[in-house]
Amino acid sequence: MIFSLAPMEGITGSVFRRVHAECFGALDRYYTPFLAPPQVGSSFGGKAYKEVDPERNQGLDVVPQLLTNDADKFVWATQVLADMGYAEVNLNLGCPSGTVVAKGRGAGFLRNLGELEGFLQEVCDRSRLPISVKTRVGVLEDAEYEKILELYCRFPLQELIVHPRVQKDRYQGVPRLELYGETLRRAPFPVAYNGDIFGTDDMAALLEAYPETRHVMLGRGILSNPALARMLNGGQAATAAELKHFHDKLFCAYEEEIGGNAVFRMKEWWSYAKYSFADPQVVHRAVRKARKVGEYEEAVERVFQTQGLSAEPRFGGF
Ligand SMILES: Cc1cc2nc3c(=O)[nH]c(=O)nc-3n(C[C@H](O)[C@H](O)[C@H](O)COP(=O)(O)O)c2cc1C
Repeated sequence: MIFSLAPMEGITGSVFRRVHAECFGALDRYYTPFLAPPQVGSSFGGKAYKEVDPERNQGLDVVPQLLTNDADKFVWATQVLADMGYAEVNLNLGCPSGTVVAKGRGAGFLRNLGELEGFLQEVCDRSRLPISVKTRVGVLEDAEYEKILELYCRFPLQELIVHPRVQKDRYQGVPRLELYGETLRRAPFPVAYNGDIFGTDDMAALLEAYPETRHVMLGRGILSNPALARMLNGGQAATAAELKHFHDKLFCAYEEEIGGNAVFRMKEWWSYAKYSFADPQVVHRAVRKARKVGEYEEAVERVFQTQGLSAEPRFGGF
């Protein structure tokens, strides 16, 4: 089974990927949070460059993800990325954010299948790298997926990663597993599953329904339980010492990256990591108020000294 880390803007960047791999072992594959392609003729700059800088991704199998509806920029970005040594690029057709959708990107591209077809035709013909797609199953309702899947099946995709929710769902409701199953049945290329795999029971249910599953992308589950991939491979749950070590390394690495106070960054991580503990609400209250580094470090010490880990850590909602 291939386990990959989901692209999560603001969270699963190069720092998180490296520290997580050092502490819990590398996953089989990582997808960068979405990147806007550079202008034709230019390279990635600033924050985007940090994401794809080969030095920061050493030893990991990383697939850069692009968010765009501009075929020329997409094709150019594949050239830049191929020159940097990348072997695949991923197209984001799932981002549900209002501003992205309004511009016809991410899940918003699924509203206009004529344009999407033209885009896919061009990028599949002209790109230097094989293209995988991460998709939702529609904008408003499941019925849209019939045409969307039929469209994908006409292109030589490297892989199709299905998050079987529509844009309108955001992250609410239950993923439509049967639409993933339909994709497995019909797609002429490899298919991956993504959505709500938070524990070994979820994985067992997925495999029972679809034993031919070969690649599962993990997002919030791994943020809430950093040992999730290890457990899905038959290994141990995280110990408190491992979790503390991971926390300390992540905090240090973010401080180094930011060049200052990384408390805000860490609070975002805690909004998921609190689910590693038996009482997530107590943990949430303990770290919520800290602003200065000293206050934060004290709060974290207290959490680890007083709070036990959950017997079955799993993401429990935003
Ligand atoms: C905060 C946040 C940021 C995300 N950023 C991205 C992104 O940059 N690109 C993308 O394709 N999906 C993004 N996603 C969606 C995740 O990759 C994934 O599809 C979603 O969380 C469902 O998987 P899960 O149930 O395993 O978390 C994001 C989700 C969240 C919650």
